[in-house]
Amino acid sequence: MNTSFKLPGTVEWKNGELYFLDQTLLPLEIISEKQENAEQVWDSIKRLKVRGAPAIGIAGAYGLAVGMRNKLRLSADGFLKELARCAEYLNSSRPTAVNLSWALKRIVGRVSESGLDSAEAMYRLLVTEAELIHAEDRAICEGIGRHGAGLIKEEAGVLTHCNAGSLATSGIGTATAPMYTAHAEGRRFRVFSDETRPLLQGARLTSWELQRAGLDVTLICDNMAASVMAKGWINLVIVGTDRVTANGDVANKIGTLGVAVMAKHFGIPFYVACPSSTVDLATACGADIEIEERDAEEVTSFGERRTAPENIKVCNPAFDVTPNELITGIITEKGIIKAPYGETLVRLFGK
Ligand code: MRU
Repeated sequence: MNTSFKLPGTVEWKNGELYFLDQTLLPLEIISEKQENAEQVWDSIKRLKVRGAPAIGIAGAYGLAVGMRNKLRLSADGFLKELARCAEYLNSSRPTAVNLSWALKRIVGRVSESGLDSAEAMYRLLVTEAELIHAEDRAICEGIGRHGAGLIKEEAGVLTHCNAGSLATSGIGTATAPMYTAHAEGRRFRVFSDETRPLLQGARLTSWELQRAGLDVTLICDNMAASVMAKGWINLVIVGTDRVTANGDVANKIGTLGVAVMAKHFGIPFYVACPSSTVDLATACGADIEIEERDAEEVTSFGERRTAPENIKVCNPAFDVTPNELITGIITEKGIIKAPYGETLVRLFGK
């Protein structure tokens, strides 16, 4: 594969137009798709064309801009009502990653409290705030990288699950940020990427982006993780997250809980990397997180080919919850947090 060209950004805002790199086509096709309206943005988030917690927050923020750009003739009050409606609509696309509602609430709050008296001025503020969320995310990823890179020692083996990489953010990712940073610092280590059934984010996205960046990455099926741990090849696990609750429980891609349990069994440190926008202090614990249930077809077929009997019952939750006691530490842009998480999360991320 030719890796010499620069990839389009996961989310791009250019001359008032929004583009998403269509991640459902990766790694075979690299196509950036223009988003014409809020309905298309909703659909792109739902179908995982754009995915990963921070990226869907950014996508939702610009989605508001796309949804509101033809409402400039409304009164200021009318604009605000329409903005709240559009935010609620976009928020209904995926429930688990808190970054989406966080970004939408931040923009609606900022515009509502601005005291501006015209739709045009409100629209300009909305776009500025979306651009700020986008730029902040890039800087936050760098911070996670700086704090987490020291965990990766020379010759280490690092396991990750799903894609919490650059494709899931506007920067160097969250779980991958320590890896990219340690690699840039010249450390040699191996990354093992779980393929991540059923939608293969680990195979299609993580192994692809790390390989492209020159890291030593080995793809494994999800059910091989215990075996590579037993061989002593893994010294560290780093995963991303869609929501960290007030007690330090985390939701992440289905299969993460299993990895955490295995890491505990083998005495391997299990770290979660996350930006502040993923911390949800309003939700007490993991049991309170809404877990997205996705279509059965994702499990009953592999690509175009059906791999299960017709009418089989299917369970397809997109995420699971890892309890805080299985987590060695949470790598954030403000440092690495250790248990007990509750107090530290409030101190660092409370208002
Ligand atoms: O369903 P996805 O592909 O959006 O799931 C993504 C994950 O679970 C990531 O690990 C999480 O969003 C963190 S991304 C920095």
